[in-house]
Amino acid sequence: MTPSLEVSGLAYAYPDGTQALYGVDVTIGKGERVALLGPNGAGKTTLVLHLNGILHGGLGTVRVGGLTVDPKDRKGLREIRRRVGIVFQDPDDQLFMPTVREDVAFGPANLGVGGAELERRVETALARVGMLEVADRPPQHLSFGQRRRVAVATVLAMEPEILVLDEPSSNLDPAGRRELAEILLGLDVTMLMVTHDLPYAAELCPRSLVLSGGVIAADGPTPEVLGDEALLRAHRLELPYGFDPAFFARR
Ligand SMILES: Nc1ncnc2c1ncn2[C@@H]1O[C@H](COP(=O)(O)OP(=O)(O)OP(=O)(O)O)[C@@H](O)[C@H]1O
Ligand SMILES: [Mg+2]
Repeated sequence: MTPSLEVSGLAYAYPDGTQALYGVDVTIGKGERVALLGPNGAGKTTLVLHLNGILHGGLGTVRVGGLTVDPKDRKGLREIRRRVGIVFQDPDDQLFMPTVREDVAFGPANLGVGGAELERRVETALARVGMLEVADRPPQHLSFGQRRRVAVATVLAMEPEILVLDEPSSNLDPAGRRELAEILLGLDVTMLMVTHDLPYAAELCPRSLVLSGGVIAADGPTPEVLGDEALLRAHRLELPYGFDPAFFARR
């Protein structure tokens, strides 16, 4: 297995002293789709923010396609940010330009993409999430679900090798949730998806990690992880009533 992402011994405390990660080891192979589950405050977002060097300075290492995340290496960090596309928990952390089109163009333009290629990337990314018709509107005039889709498009336009999504299905209506699942299933990238939506994890990710209290509490095939009632209870995870975690494994 060629590793896409290698996290080893990652420990991190915020400047106020809150220890969020206590030594996390995770390896994700190229092309894998992995769910990152865990209760509120477990450290999921903290882990995600380490994957492209937004947070750093604790212990341990993060490697992306063999390249170590090192904030002192400006050129390396640029390459890491090209490889790792993060869709943040809050789309408003991602959208800041006057129009949707400019927001989606921003990342690739920064990497030096221009002209017809830039236009192609923007149109393809927006079409993929069904948001081409809002291309010339200001992002702040869109609904939350629409902003989430545009945020996904800003990352797709970068054509990343690893797509990291922090709670992609939250606040989407049922059709939007299903449409996003179809989009994600159609992408040929390594994926790490933080979610509280366990059926979403079951549908999209063959493998699941449980992060709890800043450590990896479980790592295995999603039907097994979600089938372990004691594990779920211990980490405040709950399946919807009547949901059979083996359903997607049998398909
Ligand atoms: N900026 C910050 N300063 C201090 N502590 C923080 C900061 N951000 C997060 N924390 C703390 O770090 C721990 C991990 O938080 P994190 O946001 O990574 O959890 P999470 O698993 O993403 O939770 P959620 O499911 O609610 O999104 C928590 O104890 C949280 O209070
Ligand atoms: Mg979070």
